[in-house]
Amino acid sequence: MSDRYQEFASSPVGKLLVKNLGLPRPTRLRRHREGEPLVAGTVLVGGRGRLADALPGTLGDLGIEAVTEPPADARIKGLVFDATGLTTSEQLGALRDFFTPRLRSLETNPRVVVLGTPPEQVTGAERVAQRALEGFTRSLGKEIGQGGTVQLVYVAPGAEQSVGSTLGSTLGSTLGFLLSPKAAYVSGQVVRLGTHGKATGEAVADPDRPLAGKVALVTGASRGIGEAIARVLHRDGARVVGLDVPQAASELQGVMAELDGDWLVLDITAADAPQRIAHHLREQHGGVDVVVHNAGITRDKRLANMGEDRWDSVIAVNLTAPERITRELLDQGVVNAGGSIIGVASIAGIAGNVGQTNYATSKAGVIGLVDSLADELTDAITINAVAPGFIVTQMTAAVPFATREVGQRLNAMAQGGLPVDVAETIAWFAHPGSRAVNGNVVRVCGQMMLGA
Ligand SMILES: NC(=O)c1ccc[n+]([C@@H]2O[C@H](COP(=O)([O-])OP(=O)(O)OC[C@H]3O[C@@H](n4cnc5c(N)ncnc54)[C@H](O)[C@@H]3O)[C@@H](O)[C@H]2O)c1
Repeated sequence: MSDRYQEFASSPVGKLLVKNLGLPRPTRLRRHREGEPLVAGTVLVGGRGRLADALPGTLGDLGIEAVTEPPADARIKGLVFDATGLTTSEQLGALRDFFTPRLRSLETNPRVVVLGTPPEQVTGAERVAQRALEGFTRSLGKEIGQGGTVQLVYVAPGAEQSVGSTLGSTLGSTLGFLLSPKAAYVSGQVVRLGTHGKATGEAVADPDRPLAGKVALVTGASRGIGEAIARVLHRDGARVVGLDVPQAASELQGVMAELDGDWLVLDITAADAPQRIAHHLREQHGGVDVVVHNAGITRDKRLANMGEDRWDSVIAVNLTAPERITRELLDQGVVNAGGSIIGVASIAGIAGNVGQTNYATSKAGVIGLVDSLADELTDAITINAVAPGFIVTQMTAAVPFATREVGQRLNAMAQGGLPVDVAETIAWFAHPGSRAVNGNVVRVCGQMMLGA
């Protein structure tokens, strides 16, 4: 689906008007293309903390060219700053010292990652300094422009040194994602690694097919975001089992046939759905490695006019079904060791939205599901969620023009995201190297102005 405003804003006349009227100037976002290197350019590493020494090696293992001195002529694609050594507020000036001279020599779609220590795991002045990093990265995300992204990654103390662990196995898949075009629409996020146990990431034989030999269930896979998730997980090597309602059976079969996948036609709210799904995955595939709860509906009305049907159906599809299915798959041991469970929340579940008390309740509940299970899961199984902002799909194409325009521009990138942006984030959670990523909710929203 084309973004007509973006096309207009990059035309000669459009450029002039946009500049003179101070209108938003969306930069065309570069997305990952199969077979391309993760990062096309040089990443400069700075800062002094417990992670700095190992960083160039970790990036090198990912095939990323990392340097610790700014190259004389080459422009910089990414900046990674180890801020774990900052223990007082006076030392925060190190951020300015590192970033300010570099910001004018960044390539388009630049990537910035600041590494810190989770504030809740340290005390006193160090806690203050580490908490302060969040204001820095969120503001730089809004300033950086050029389709750039800025993230803060808190690494639990010792997570990189626990038995059998290296910095690469804790941080590799996360840096690989956040520094690459796969994270095109993810910005201003705070990610925590190793804060719910210290599981070590698994090395993958083929970095282009990290999910080879794995089975992935995707609900609502016949179209929109679910279809994109199925395609990206397939690209990464997974055997995908797509699920959708009987009304969408032929579209689902079409997509799954293309991906050489399997399909399951049922309504996830049916009383016996969890048992049928568990049975199918166990009997046909010997278990499941990746479970993506993507199926979702909206039935918008202000609360004063909200009928019982609208309320009940949204809670049933978006929240109760993922809860029941997750519980059944775990109780029956159908989720393989090292597996990942992934919820699809929404920005509405974080910021709230007019006409969406039912939807926002269900999506905030998905975040609650992540919180409730992150510490409980065993066998290195993880649970995380994405919270998409404005993603261009058939669902959002139906939104009236003016509302859609405002919704699309109210973010640091002044444009809507694509289903593939949500799918790439899910593929990062599902990556066998991402075991330290547990209990996170990551927004895929171009750093929307709504909510934190
Ligand atoms: N599009 C956005 O901007 C956006 C923003 C935030 C969150 N989301 C969330 O992303 C997910 C996908 O959204 P989308 O835009 O692709 O929507 P969509 O309507 O295009 O697709 C949803 C899919 O879920 C399926 N589904 C619905 N009820 C089901 C049920 N009871 N059992 C099985 N399958 C069922 C539908 O048939 C459909 O294939 C949803 O959870 C949605 O809430 C979307």
